[in-house]
Amino acid sequence: NLKINIAIDGPAGAGKSTIARMVAKELSYIYVDTGSMYRAVTWYMLKHNISPEFSDLVLQHAQKMVIQLIPGADGQKVLVDGQDVSPFIRSQEVNGMVSFYAQIEGLRKHLVALQQEMAARKGVVMDGRDIGTTVLPDAELKIFMTASVKERALRRFKELSDAQGLTLEQLEKDIAERDRLDEGREVSPLRCADDAIVLDTTHMDIPQVVETIVSYCRTHT
Ligand code: C5P
Repeated sequence: NLKINIAIDGPAGAGKSTIARMVAKELSYIYVDTGSMYRAVTWYMLKHNISPEFSDLVLQHAQKMVIQLIPGADGQKVLVDGQDVSPFIRSQEVNGMVSFYAQIEGLRKHLVALQQEMAARKGVVMDGRDIGTTVLPDAELKIFMTASVKERALRRFKELSDAQGLTLEQLEKDIAERDRLDEGREVSPLRCADDAIVLDTTHMDIPQVVETIVSYCRTHT
C-alpha cells in the first residue's frame, strides 16, 4: 500500500488543522502543521525583541533554533530548543505578528527546507498556505480549503473557550487582515495550486470534510 503526500492549503480559520489531523489519523499518516512553525519562530522573536524588519537577524536566530513537531495528546506539540511552546503560539500577540515574519524570504526558505525533509518519505498530511504551490509541488493530492470569512470567524470564536475577551467582530477583522497579508505578500503568497481540489467547507461539517478528503486519497492509492 503506497503512501502519498497530501497538501492542504487555505486561509486562516478554514479548519485546516482540525481536518488535516483527523485525515492523518484515519490514514495513519504523519500530520505536519506548518503554521505552528511560523508561529514558534514568531513567539521566539517577540520574546527576544527581534522585530521582523531585521530580517537578517531573524534568519540568523531561526537557523540556530531547533524546531520539532511531535504528536501530543491534544494535537501537535511544537518544541523550540527542547521547550514546549505550544501553549504560547496561539496568543493574540503571535496572531497579530506572524504574517509579518512569514513575509521574510530567507525564513521561508529555511522552514520550507525543513518541511520538505519531513515529507521526504511520504505518508504526510501537511497544512499551510504554500504547501501545494511551493513546499510539495509534487504532492499527489492537493486540497484548497476555504469557507466564508463569517463562518471562519464563527469557528474561531467557538474554539476559544474563554474567547480571550474577543468579540466575533474583532475575530472577523483579524481573519480578514491575515488573509489580506497572506494573499498579498511577494514570496509564495496564499494561492490555490492549479492542480488543487477546491473544497468550500462553509456548509460542511467536520466529518464530511474528512470523509471527502480520505475518499480522494483512496482513489490515489
Ligand atoms: O495556519 P496558521 O493560521 O497557524 O498560520 C499562521 C500564519 O503563518 C499564517 O497566517 C501565515 O502568515 C503563516 N504561514 C505561512 N505559510 C505556511 C503556514 C503558515 O506563511 N505554510
